[in-house]
Amino acid sequence: MESPSYGGIIQKYRACLPVGKGTTVVSLLEGNTPLVCAPRLARWLELPEDALLLKIEGMNPTGSFKDRGMTVAVSKALEAGARGILCASTGNTAASAAAYAARAGLRCAVLLPEGGVAAGKLAAALMHGASVIALRGSFDAALALAQRVAQEDGWTLVNSVNPSRIQGQKTAAFEIIEALGRAPDFQFMPVGNAGNITAYWLGYREWHAALKKGLPKMMGVQAKGAAPLVLGRPVAHPKTVASAIRIGRPASWAAALKAKEESGGMIAAVSDAEILSAWRRLAREEGVFCEPASAAGVAGLIRFARGGGFHRMDASKRKALRIVCILTGHGLKDPDAPAALRFRRRTVDPDLRAVSSALNALK
Ligand code: F0G
Repeated sequence: MESPSYGGIIQKYRACLPVGKGTTVVSLLEGNTPLVCAPRLARWLELPEDALLLKIEGMNPTGSFKDRGMTVAVSKALEAGARGILCASTGNTAASAAAYAARAGLRCAVLLPEGGVAAGKLAAALMHGASVIALRGSFDAALALAQRVAQEDGWTLVNSVNPSRIQGQKTAAFEIIEALGRAPDFQFMPVGNAGNITAYWLGYREWHAALKKGLPKMMGVQAKGAAPLVLGRPVAHPKTVASAIRIGRPASWAAALKAKEESGGMIAAVSDAEILSAWRRLAREEGVFCEPASAAGVAGLIRFARGGGFHRMDASKRKALRIVCILTGHGLKDPDAPAALRFRRRTVDPDLRAVSSALNALK
């Protein structure tokens, strides 16, 4: 078979990644995700129509950004002769690890907070043959345990504390720069365990070091009930509808604060109501269905814009403004989440009049 023109992030960015001739690449052609403009949202926020872009990371093979880091981490684990890979996860890392392990022929084990993982993510982990262990505890407890199991039993940990994950994930910054011809002015993104913001900042800085061009302000967004970076202390019992970022003690805490400080950005917290409202707005007005955690970044943007965050800018800068929101995971991952919005629907008999009257009633 002829090799496809796009071969995944390792093929494309090999020179910037820790892989060598001896590395067998385990890939599902991750990366190369769309950067879609959001003109209605931009207009509503009184921004120029082309100012706002959504990086749709839910278009990765397992439906989240995790695949970028996982291709590198699993390729390296295979190269090192690992016994198997292991992770703690709120769901997306587990789904991604399980898929890449299946492809590599490696065993995969995942530790999940019981009752805290969306259905689509759990389904994927099970389908790919992972050993799934539900823990009566939080993600933070699961990660602490996974680190110990890895140390004592010789599994390769593929959480974002594994540097290969960060290396792979930084490639999303390269793609954004390629699409815009420069770095954006602002990047809004959800923050949970803080690996992703660390990875983007690494990617942007590497590019900047090579070309001496601009850097974005990194705007990290947490959910109010799970906002350790905003509070400045760990949260023992994190709570939010956005299960993916229900994390109280981020592993990459210091690196996230560094990204914020070095870039002149911020880390903010938004309420669950703000997250749900941004989530619905993206789906209804832009046709983009992400998972609730992903909408946290957009909720942060909305709060910032409405608070006059872009007003202090001079007119010419404002005209050329580019803001990117990272939509980290696909909406179909969490099919139960829309219940929080209490949509109306009707069940009727298969009858023309019944359908017509239901249509009128739902108007
Ligand atoms: N968005 C989604 C959809 C996620 O799944 C995660 C993290 C984040 C944002 C936050 O990224 O942790 O790098 O700051 N999910 C991890 C997991 C924790 O286990 O799937 P982060």
